[in-house]
Amino acid sequence: MSESDPFALVEKAVAGLPHPEHDPVFGRALGQFVQHVGAREILELGTGHGGSACWLAAGLRLGGGGTLTTIDRDTAPSITRLLDTAGIADLTRIVRTPRSYTWELMHLIQANTSDGRCNPQFDFCYIDGAHNWDTDGFAFFLVEKLLKPGGWIVFDDLDWTYATCLHLSPVDADVAGLMTPEERSTPQVGGVFELLVRQHPGFDVVRQFPVHGWARKAGLRDSAEETTRLIDDLEAAYALYGSHA
Ligand SMILES: C[S@@+](CC[C@H](N)C(=O)[O-])C[C@H]1O[C@@H](n2cnc3c(N)ncnc32)[C@H](O)[C@@H]1O
Repeated sequence: MSESDPFALVEKAVAGLPHPEHDPVFGRALGQFVQHVGAREILELGTGHGGSACWLAAGLRLGGGGTLTTIDRDTAPSITRLLDTAGIADLTRIVRTPRSYTWELMHLIQANTSDGRCNPQFDFCYIDGAHNWDTDGFAFFLVEKLLKPGGWIVFDDLDWTYATCLHLSPVDADVAGLMTPEERSTPQVGGVFELLVRQHPGFDVVRQFPVHGWARKAGLRDSAEETTRLIDDLEAAYALYGSHA
């Protein structure tokens, strides 16, 4: 890969980011997928240190451009230098929120509403944020309103639990402190995917892997076969080379 290749630039830029918060193998898979489906408007819930944002935006660059809107709390680390180094600052809109992206999703729905209807804005949404039922279950229904027909939603960490997480932020530790032992030991994103996404009548392709869930909003007339095969290939490559803990 040459240095002018957006993925090569990202690979170099994200090399020092904390693992497993950022996984470059899966990040690249996301970027390749975004490029393949020709996404123009991407939403990310949970920016963290900015690793996945870099790959998603590089996918946009390779697909012809667009905008990544990435949301995190005010307390999240600054990612501006990383975006500059990765060469994708011009494609990225950073949104910060005092408490939760669910509130910012309300703003996005408001901004996209005319004549009492929400006009969908996004082609692709990556959810890698709160990892709990209340926040991400609700976020799913809000994102569904903002997702175009044929748009994709991807969940990370279907297996994640509060009980096994070694480094909770103070705010997440407070949330966990109010939970029952059952809640803390339940993979809550897995529950969101299994009980809300899979059962939602508005999604026509649903692919579930050990730690990732992919779903396509219905409404395109095409066969989803080729795209579904791509997801399988990307996940297979991820399983081969990835090292998700
Ligand atoms: C696992 S990190 C994101 C990692 C990043 N997507 C990557 O792969 O490089 C999760 C992020 O979600 C943020 N987060 C958790 N709950 C949130 C909420 N309710 N609203 C906004 N951000 C939230 C945290 O602050 C944290 O930075």
